[in-house]
Amino acid sequence: MPDFEEIASLEEFGSADRLEVFIGDTPALLIRIHDQILAIEDVCTHDGQTLTKGCIEDGAIVCPRHGARFDLVTGKALCMPATKPIQTFEVEVRGQKIYVRH
Ligand code: FES
Repeated sequence: MPDFEEIASLEEFGSADRLEVFIGDTPALLIRIHDQILAIEDVCTHDGQTLTKGCIEDGAIVCPRHGARFDLVTGKALCMPATKPIQTFEVEVRGQKIYVRH
């Protein structure tokens, strides 16, 4: 079972709702929604676009290139042109530190 690793701290978000990080070798996004932190792979499964600048709406992120939507919790592709899920990661916040299991 992989362990949790410290990836970032809450202060690093500043006023933003997302933070670009690496989880192991995987480019990833930490996303803050209300008091919850979610972690997703930052690569669209349709054609490799980063999701960094994607709109977040209704618990999903929209790929800025062709509009595929991915569920932020499950990673499931919710609409074409993507059909495969993105990877998501389990997150724990301990104090100000953000830990991700990978
Ligand atoms: S690269 Fe993301 S929808 Fe095409």
